[in-house]
Amino acid sequence: MKVAVITGGSGGIGLAIIKNLAAQGFSAVSWDIHPPKENIPFVHCDVTSEAAVQKALHETTEKFGVPTILINNCGIQFISPVDEFPLDKWNQLISILLTGTFLCSKLVIPGMKKNGGGRIINVSSIHGKVASPFKAAYVAAKHGVLGLSKVMALELGEHNITVNSICPGFVDTQLMRLQMAKQAELNNISEDEVATEIMLKPACIKKFTTTDQVAGMVNYLISDAASTITGEAFSMSGGWGMGQ
Ligand SMILES: NC(=O)c1ccc[n+]([C@@H]2O[C@H](COP(=O)([O-])OP(=O)(O)OC[C@H]3O[C@@H](n4cnc5c(N)ncnc54)[C@H](O)[C@@H]3O)[C@@H](O)[C@H]2O)c1
Repeated sequence: MKVAVITGGSGGIGLAIIKNLAAQGFSAVSWDIHPPKENIPFVHCDVTSEAAVQKALHETTEKFGVPTILINNCGIQFISPVDEFPLDKWNQLISILLTGTFLCSKLVIPGMKKNGGGRIINVSSIHGKVASPFKAAYVAAKHGVLGLSKVMALELGEHNITVNSICPGFVDTQLMRLQMAKQAELNNISEDEVATEIMLKPACIKKFTTTDQVAGMVNYLISDAASTITGEAFSMSGGWGMGQ
């Protein structure tokens, strides 16, 4: 059975990916700092610690086998004007979003090489391609994830490992709901106005992307049809910024 690791699989996008992969017969394991609310394979892991990732990989390999699919998905958001952005929050976002993606990839890749190949999918964001105010750390980290993905794609092609990124616009999860309240406060508007005037305004399709749609993109990127696709970054944003 194929083993997939999904970081941050205890909720939101990660959980949808896990349920989708499990339904297809994969052993899909969540590496998260929070236990899942549903009954899914779970190994505790803080992706910012190399020792913790090493321990989680060991436990996963013992219980399920060598992971040949890695979805670097976990994340948090923090919103603040750049000149007030607390350094500890900057460091936390960079550690989880960028360093975590690096560490999990670094440690999982040797097993993929030994197995003759693998698929790495990094959940970046439309904010890996464009910026929005008040998201200094998030935008910097998500742009960094796209750069890291390209480097890994170059290095790993000869090992039959593809590395691609998914760049969602807004997806209705806890991460999105928490920032809605903060954006409403910072911009002095209602949460409904945050949805229409900020989150969906630059989009051609004024709808949030669903967690299942992101899971569908993962299905494609791990399929045989995508075996020669690498280093790419797929936007799923309703067409954010097409008019610019
Ligand atoms: N929701 C959106 O609108 C949206 C848009 C674009 C990109 N994304 C990205 O999608 C990914 C998933 O976000 P989501 O919306 O499902 O959020 P979510 O808050 O629902 O889930 C994030 C998960 O990450 C876990 N996590 C946090 N810190 C961790 C750590 N140090 N180690 C391991 N796990 C940790 C959390 O416990 C949580 O289960 C994130 O990378 C996010 O930046 C989300």
